[in-house]
Amino acid sequence: MTLHVIVLAAGKGSRMKSNIPKVLHQVAGIPMLHRVIAVASELAPQTTHLVLGHGMQQIEASLTEQSVTTSTVQQAQQLGTGHAVKLALDHIADDTVSLVLYGDVPLITGATLARCVEVATAGQVGVVTANFSNPEQLGRILRNDAGSIDAIVEFKDASPAQKAISEINSGILAAPTHLLRGWLQQVQPNNQQGEYYLTDIVSLAVRDGVSVQGLMVDEEQEVMGVNDRAQLAQAERLYQQQQTTALMGRGVTFADPARVDIRGELTCGIDCFVDINTVFIGEVTLGEGVTVGPGAIIENSHIGANVLIKAHTVIEGAQVADACQLGPFARIRPGSEFAEGVKVGNFVETKKARLGAGAKASHLSYLGDATIGAEANIGAGTVTCNYDGVDKHQTTVGDGAFVGTNSTLVAPLEIGANAFVAAGSTVTAKVAPDTLAVGRARQRTITKWLSPLKRKNPAE
Ligand code: UD1
Ligand code: CA
Repeated sequence: MTLHVIVLAAGKGSRMKSNIPKVLHQVAGIPMLHRVIAVASELAPQTTHLVLGHGMQQIEASLTEQSVTTSTVQQAQQLGTGHAVKLALDHIADDTVSLVLYGDVPLITGATLARCVEVATAGQVGVVTANFSNPEQLGRILRNDAGSIDAIVEFKDASPAQKAISEINSGILAAPTHLLRGWLQQVQPNNQQGEYYLTDIVSLAVRDGVSVQGLMVDEEQEVMGVNDRAQLAQAERLYQQQQTTALMGRGVTFADPARVDIRGELTCGIDCFVDINTVFIGEVTLGEGVTVGPGAIIENSHIGANVLIKAHTVIEGAQVADACQLGPFARIRPGSEFAEGVKVGNFVETKKARLGAGAKASHLSYLGDATIGAEANIGAGTVTCNYDGVDKHQTTVGDGAFVGTNSTLVAPLEIGANAFVAAGSTVTAKVAPDTLAVGRARQRTITKWLSPLKRKNPAE
């Protein structure tokens, strides 16, 4: 049956104390609302309807920027969750199933949503619930003696006995659209908060003889709502824990799984070791046996097997083949492509640089817009002068070439295979293969000279 998703996100989220709408606050680098939409998309809904009010323009802009397609339903006044859903239903046909999600419940999984939708497809109401150790102000699930759900009562309307119930309403539910529409037309705001409660449809369903299935999740964190910064931090840690636990299950060792941040998708071969305070951003793959040193940051990069990434190395948009050694304190920028066994050491920066197998730049270099041949050695302090203030130019260093310490390579420049550049050279013209280039002032030695001290005080 055709599925429609409704995501409620019109509320102000005042407890966040923020100029940014609550649902745009991020968990693991992705706005909560984007996460919820992405999970819902696993169920291939016909349309995802967003009920927006506060911060509507900011929210729409952030979705457009990420090319996320949704349909906005404006709820100018937040009269309650029932009112919000009712507005969305104006855009949804009767013979469909509607699934209601919250933009501030970021850890919900596709599997739970699928179970919920399955119930609605069978003509019943599915409500996602959980047992909370500390249910605070959440709505409570009321079950009868036979164990089936009779109603949901909001905390503010609950009796002391009802407040003692630990099974809570996550807010997520699915129902046949025509039934949901009919019930919402009957919901009245006669409660403590004077709001139209979506939760009131449960007792109306029971009255009409439609069964309400409670789908209880195993982990309460899956349905945790984020209302303030403390809960945002909690959601972040829980998400991170899920990622590291899954990776440990696939053979990755973390020095401390609580001191790693994965903001995107990290795929690892077995026997990788990840040290503390490391950050992975976007799509990162590590081959087997990779070591990632403390403080390293790796973004949208592919790292081959047995690569050693030493402390505080920053890698972005790079392709690194097997057995390379990077860092400590190396900065590998986009377009860096290293063949097998490359060594890039401390305080070396590379950008759009292709290094052949076994090439080395061990200390203090800048290699930009460069192609470095296999087994070439780039001495400490070598800089490619790739930019003339207007355009970028290429530097090519042939296989087996040796570039001496503190060389200045003024691009466009070609240095042939097995050529040798003397230390301290400024090289502006092509160097033929197997030749020696010396580009520096000749040293003079002046014997009869007076130091400033002697000039001032000849007696000494
Ligand atoms: C709601 C549920 C409660 C449940 C809890 C889980 C109702 C009446 N109560 O309570 O049973 O335990 O969520 O978190 O449904 N929203 C709108 N428009 C509105 C009102 C709310 O879009 O007019 C959105 C909010 O932005 C938020 C979500 O709906 O994303 C929940 O609203 P909130 O006011 O936080 O509901 P609760 O009182 O927490
Ligand atoms: Ca809430």
